[in-house]
Amino acid sequence: MRKTYKSMSMNKKTLPFAAAFLSAALFSCSQQPSKPAVEPSLKAAVGDRFTVGAAASALQMAVPDTQAVRILKTHFNSIVAENCMKCEVIHPFEATYNFAGGDSIVTFAQENNMEMIGHCLLWHSQMAPWFCVDSLGNNVSPDVLRQRIKSHIHTIVGRYKGKVHGWDVCNEIIVEDGSFRKSPLFEILGTEFVYDALQFAHEADPDAELYLNDYGMTAPGRRDAYLALIDSIKVRGLRLDAIGMQGHMGMDYPQVEEFEQSMLAFAAKGVGVMVTEWDMSILPTVTQSANISDVAEARKEFDPYWPNAVPDSVARVWNDRMGAFWALFVKHSDILKRVTAWGVTDAASWKNDFPVPGRHDEPLLFDRQGQPKPFVKDFITNELNK
Ligand code: GLA
Repeated sequence: MRKTYKSMSMNKKTLPFAAAFLSAALFSCSQQPSKPAVEPSLKAAVGDRFTVGAAASALQMAVPDTQAVRILKTHFNSIVAENCMKCEVIHPFEATYNFAGGDSIVTFAQENNMEMIGHCLLWHSQMAPWFCVDSLGNNVSPDVLRQRIKSHIHTIVGRYKGKVHGWDVCNEIIVEDGSFRKSPLFEILGTEFVYDALQFAHEADPDAELYLNDYGMTAPGRRDAYLALIDSIKVRGLRLDAIGMQGHMGMDYPQVEEFEQSMLAFAAKGVGVMVTEWDMSILPTVTQSANISDVAEARKEFDPYWPNAVPDSVARVWNDRMGAFWALFVKHSDILKRVTAWGVTDAASWKNDFPVPGRHDEPLLFDRQGQPKPFVKDFITNELNK
């Protein structure tokens, strides 16, 4: 019912109640802080701009109260399986699925009200050795491979239907010059495997979001190839929700501006953008041509600080660079759906072992003691004090 001025206005009867109400309200205001208390966490500070995720291992989920689990629960509202949903783990033999790790991480996500990201359905690396070959080791026919892909995707996506928010359907399928990676998937099926995979995933869970994910998305060749691929996916009427830009970075690559250019180019195609595997090595960049056959020598050259702390001057450069990328993400939160760090703390980052085993890298948002890095801490403080 529309309230008239008359019914809202005071009369002799309502006045004392109103006065009592007003004084109670004033009293309660003076007793309470002006804003409800919010736990100082990254996810609270980011709010509804985008989800913030981290990659985690099934092992981390197995122990309930570790530093990693506490940080995950406090700071992140999205989680992705670091390894346990990859083909070699989840589907090691044609007739064998191993859902133990996937189940535990999905349960953890549900119990903690986190968005679960499935990673990854098709990837040339960490693929089970049987997947593309027959018993003699020869490539299978296109029909056989298509059938295997269908059954792989239907089984995995079907099992987690309604529980996984979105899937990295294809990972790393385009190389820097813009051509398709010459993986067995491509050699046997050509580009069709991408469209098939998207179709099968959609059949298995029509509500799940579907992504294509890759690294080095600032390379113009790769970026343009994805732009063309998005068009061809649209033409076929297939579902594609977002492009995942992995975001494995170093102290000297990429530039913020070129990353932004790719983000905007993907968004202009009408798909979402996600930073899916964010980390930034603080150690010297190892080029592909570096000789790391002598691991001990390489460790000295490429792990120059350990056992001393990373010099403050270097840590500052790292923090400024990460802060600049973070500012970029916040600036483009209208097109950015998610930012996921590839690991919880520096202690468990894959970068400690790649490309030189045994290095001591510090690429993540939380340090080995579980403390947020300065740019994370500053963001949380500034946002929650606004
Ligand atoms: C790629 C994959 C990830 C992970 C990282 C490095 O980016 O997508 O699953 O394996 O490499 O560990």
